[in-house]
Amino acid sequence: MDEGHLIRIKAVPAQEVRFYSCWGDMMQTDIGSDEKAQGAQAVGQAATAPAVPFYEEATIQRLVWPVSTEEFLARYWEKRPLIVHRANPDYYGDLFTLQDFDASLKNNRGYVKTAEATSKSQAMHNGAGPSAMEAVLKDMHSGHTLILDTMHEHNSKLGSFCRLLAQDTGDRFQTNLYLTPPNGKGFRPHWDNHDVYILQVLGSKHWKIEKERRTLPQPDARMPEEGRELRGELHEFTLQQGDMVYIPRGFIHAAECGSDCSLHITLGLNYNSWNQLLMAAIKAAVLRDDSLRLSLPAGYMKGDGAGILKRVSEVLHSAADPAFLAEVLEQFRDEIVQKHYLEISGQVESFFQPKELKLDDKFGARPGLFYTIRKGEESVILKVGTRSVTFPDFFGEALEFALQTPSYAIRDLPGDLEDDLKLVFIERLMQEALLIRK
Ligand SMILES: [Fe+2]
Repeated sequence: MDEGHLIRIKAVPAQEVRFYSCWGDMMQTDIGSDEKAQGAQAVGQAATAPAVPFYEEATIQRLVWPVSTEEFLARYWEKRPLIVHRANPDYYGDLFTLQDFDASLKNNRGYVKTAEATSKSQAMHNGAGPSAMEAVLKDMHSGHTLILDTMHEHNSKLGSFCRLLAQDTGDRFQTNLYLTPPNGKGFRPHWDNHDVYILQVLGSKHWKIEKERRTLPQPDARMPEEGRELRGELHEFTLQQGDMVYIPRGFIHAAECGSDCSLHITLGLNYNSWNQLLMAAIKAAVLRDDSLRLSLPAGYMKGDGAGILKRVSEVLHSAADPAFLAEVLEQFRDEIVQKHYLEISGQVESFFQPKELKLDDKFGARPGLFYTIRKGEESVILKVGTRSVTFPDFFGEALEFALQTPSYAIRDLPGDLEDDLKLVFIERLMQEALLIRK
C-alpha cells in the first residue's frame, strides 16, 4: 500500500533533528520523538565527524545518511525512491566541483557530451580537433547540459569513491556528471535499467518521479520511445546542494533547473543479479556434462516431450547439488573480482626507484582493493583482478592483516613469521600493487 512512500529527512543540528513522514504527499506527520532524534544524532555524528572526504571513506551508509543502512536496504533498496534533504550544502565536500569540471574538459576532452532536452539532440565532442571545444563552448552558451560520462575512469576522486563503494557492497559503480544551466532541462522522462543515486553537489534541480514503477528492467533493457511522458501520481521535490535521491531502476523520472544552475553526480550501480548466478550454474552444469552439448532428440518438435522434460528435470536436479552450487558460487565471485579495476598509482616510482625495505617501514592496504582469499591444501590463494597468487598457508593470517589494515609496520605482521619472511612477503604484495607506503 505504501509503494512510493517517501521519508524526507532534514539533517539539521543534532538537537533539532526531526523525522518527517510524508505519505503520498497527502499527510505530513512529525514522528520525531526524543528517541528518534537520539538515533539520528548518533548516526549523524558517525557520518560527519571527523570530516573524512567522501572519496577516502565512501560507504552506502554515508550515501543514505541519516537513514540507516539497515532501513535503506529493508525499505527502499530496489523497491522505492528515497529522497534525502540534508540542509547541509557541504555534505559532499569537494567530491566534484566546478573546478574539477573545468579540469576534466582540459584533460579529458574526449569525454564531454552536450544535450538539449527539448530537441532530443545530444552530441559527443571527442576532442579530435580544435572545433570540438568550440562546439562545447557554443552549446554551453546556448543553454545545453554538459555531460561527462564514466568520469570515475578519469578523475581520481571519483575513481576512489567508486572503488570504496564497491568494496562496501560487492557491486561496481560508475559516475556520470550533469551540469545544467539555470532553467535548463535534463533528459526527457525515462526509466533507467540500473539503480541510480543522484548526488546534488552544486546548485539545485527540480525532480519528478512517478510513484508507480513501470517495469523491472533487465540490465540490457532500453526504454522504448513510446511512453516517455510522466503519468499518474508523482513525487515532486527540489534537490539542494548536499541532498540525494535514490531512484530504483524502472521508475520514470525527469528533472529540470529553476533559477539555479545544477551540477549532480549520477552514481549508477552495475549490479549482479540472481539471473546471472542461475545462468552461471546452468553454464557450469553444461560444461561438466558432455551429453548436454548433444542435439535434442530427433522429432523433439512433436509429441508431449515427456522424455525431454524428464531429462531436463534430471539435469536441474543434479545441478541442485550443494557442493556443485558452492563451486559455482566461488567461480562466480572470482569472475566478479576480475571485473574490478586495480588502481596502481605509485607503482611506477616504487618500481623504478625502489627503496630498501626495513622492518619499521610502514605500509597499508591500498584503499578500495577488491579480492577474495581462499584456503587451499597447505596454501592460501589470493584472487585479485585476473591474477591468482598462491602463498604457503602459514602466510594466511598475515595476508588478511596486510590487505585489511590501513597502516602497520612490517614487523607488526602477525602469524609467527621470521623477519626475513615478513620482508619478502611485503615485497611480493608491493609488486602486485596491493599495498601503499605510509
Ligand atoms: Fe535517468
